Amino acid sequence: MPRTAIAAIGTCVPERVVTNDELSRLMETSDAWIRERTGIEERHWVGEETGNSDLALAATNQALDRAGWKATDIEAIVYASLSPDFMFPGDGCYLNAKLGIPGVPALDIRNQCSGFVYGLSVADAWIRGGSYRRVLLVGSEVHSTGLDLTTRGRDVSVIFGDGAGAALLEATDEPGRGVLSCELHADGRHAKELSTDAPGSRYHPRLQPRMLEDGSAFAHMEGQKVFKHAISRMPEVVRSVLDENGLKTTDLKLLIPHQANLRISQMVQRSLELRDDQVFNNIMKYGNTTAASIPICLAEAVEARGVKRGDLICLAAFGAGFTWGAALLRW
Ligand code: ACO
Repeated sequence: MPRTAIAAIGTCVPERVVTNDELSRLMETSDAWIRERTGIEERHWVGEETGNSDLALAATNQALDRAGWKATDIEAIVYASLSPDFMFPGDGCYLNAKLGIPGVPALDIRNQCSGFVYGLSVADAWIRGGSYRRVLLVGSEVHSTGLDLTTRGRDVSVIFGDGAGAALLEATDEPGRGVLSCELHADGRHAKELSTDAPGSRYHPRLQPRMLEDGSAFAHMEGQKVFKHAISRMPEVVRSVLDENGLKTTDLKLLIPHQANLRISQMVQRSLELRDDQVFNNIMKYGNTTAASIPICLAEAVEARGVKRGDLICLAAFGAGFTWGAALLRW
């Protein structure tokens, strides 16, 4: 049975950099508060002419260049996002059109910060099962157009940034290379602790002016609950995928944690007793880019840490739902 290898990763973040000081001019917050609580120094926001699928297209084109593939080599698209261009259809179809590959299936998934790991698990099953040999997996987000930029929304608005990461996945028969395991979880009892409620089909009508006024159109986050669960679920699932493969944390070249908050990553690192050189973080520059955070982080880590063929890498995610998961792979 073939395994799933990452042929190349591409990334795209918008040019506009938004500093903590800039946010401090919009709401009651400060550079010191944001850095101390989250580790974030700046994030990127799109301009009016750019949408989610445009970031995804740029990231995909970079990955295609790096892999030496043409768009027509892609046999299927998996697109993870909680912030698509439009209500429907999903951005997988818009990206399919922008890439000029009509007929290629496009699956949109909404698993928030766990979207990339959920998507990888699906693509891996397709590849191992022989349905497709070359799959494009994208995580892309535009958060900036949906933030409450008043003091009411400051706990959420200072955290999120825009960006996209695209991984080209291919079947490999090379022994010891590729995805070894993916493990996924969800616990919907916590769905309301990190969610955006409106607009939604439960409301009659689903879109109402009061949704902007009462804040229900903006993300609601019970930060301390999210924090508490993230720092236990992520180490748990990392240990579990390692155990399943008879491997230990000391075997890891790199852990790529979802970039939710630098303090979460640091606590996960401590809990797993990993050295600094075994964990890569870049939330300082991008904020939390949700489904895009893992591929953006992985792309930078591969270069910065000199990842080579055979190195063991673990991707770990936790996000709204709650959903969480991990993927273990040999580069
Ligand atoms: N600037 C200044 N003050 C703020 C801000 C802000 N941006 N946001 C909140 N505060 C205030 C609060 O109003 C509160 O004031 P009060 O004491 O007068 O009531 C005070 O700061 C402390 O608020 P807490 O919510 O208790 O602060 P906490 O230390 O928990 O930090 C944070 C908040 C950063 C959100 C933290 O809980 C956290 O990181 N949680 C994890 C959530 C997370 O990482 N989410 C990312 C998205 S989800 C995901 O990707 C998994």
